[in-house]
Amino acid sequence: MEAHLCKTRRSNININIILLLIASIAATLVTSSASPITTGEKVELSLYYEALCPYCENFILNYLYKVFDNGLISIVDLKLSPYGNAKIRPNGTIVCQHGEWECVLNTVEACAIHAWPVVSDHFPFVYCVESLTYEGKYDEWETCFEKLNLDPKPVTDCIASGFGHELALRYADEINALEPPHTYVPWVVVGGQPIYDDYTDFVSFVCKAYKGSNPPQACLGLSLPTTTPNYNAKPFNHVCYKEEDNAKSKSTLSETILATAAAWAESM
Ligand SMILES: *[C@@H]1O[C@H](CO)[C@@H](O)[C@H](O)[C@H]1NC(C)=O
Repeated sequence: MEAHLCKTRRSNININIILLLIASIAATLVTSSASPITTGEKVELSLYYEALCPYCENFILNYLYKVFDNGLISIVDLKLSPYGNAKIRPNGTIVCQHGEWECVLNTVEACAIHAWPVVSDHFPFVYCVESLTYEGKYDEWETCFEKLNLDPKPVTDCIASGFGHELALRYADEINALEPPHTYVPWVVVGGQPIYDDYTDFVSFVCKAYKGSNPPQACLGLSLPTTTPNYNAKPFNHVCYKEEDNAKSKSTLSETILATAAAWAESM
C-alpha cells in the first residue's frame, strides 16, 4: 500500500497534465460538435518525429497539444508519423538515431496510432509516453495504459506479433517520400508545405491555410504569417538533423565539379 502511494504521488504531475489534456480534448469535441465542419475543409497538419529527439519531445509537450485548444482541432487533420531519422539496415532491421529505446518507443507509438486511429484517442497516449521520455524514464511507457485507462492488449500484441515493425517500415516509406525531403525533425508539414523551423508557430500556419468559413476561436486575433517559410541553413529553433552520410559526400563532389568547371572556364 505504502509503495503504491509513493508511486502515485511521484507521477501526480504527469497525471494532472494528462487529465487537463483530456478535459481540453473533451471540451473541444463538445464545442466542435456544435458547429460541424466538413473534412474537405480541414487543414493537413503532419508531424514527422522520433520518440527521443529532445526537440520533438519539446514540440509535442509544449506546443502541439495546443491543437486541442479553442476548437483548432475542428479544422485540422493531424497526422503523427513516428520514425524520423531512423534507417533500415540491409538485413531489414531498423537503426534509430538515439539508440534502441528510440526504436522501441517509435514502434510503441506507431502501434498506439494504429490501435486507436482517432487522433483524440491516440494523442494523449503519445503525449504521456513523450512526457516520460522527456524525464529519461524510457522503461516506464507501459504506465501510460493505466494512467489513461487504456487496454494495453492491442499495443502489446502489435509489438509482439511483428506488426509494429511493419508499421515502422510504412512510416519509413512515408517520410522518405516527402517532397521536399525532410532534413531534420521535428518536421512539420501544413497543407503539404513544410514550415521548417517555424514549427512553434504552427497554429498561425494552420489558420492561414484554412479556407473554410467560421474559423475556430483559436484563429481569431492571430497575426498570420506574411511570408512563406523557407529553408534556413541554420534553423532558429533546435532540431535533430538527418545524418546525411551519402548526401554530404555528394555535395562535396558537386562542389568539386563546380569549382573545377569555374577554374576551367576562367582559364579559357
Ligand atoms: C542485422 O544487421 C546488424 C548489423 O548490421 C546486426 O547487428 C543484427 O544482428 C542483424 N539482425 C538480423 C536479424 O540479422
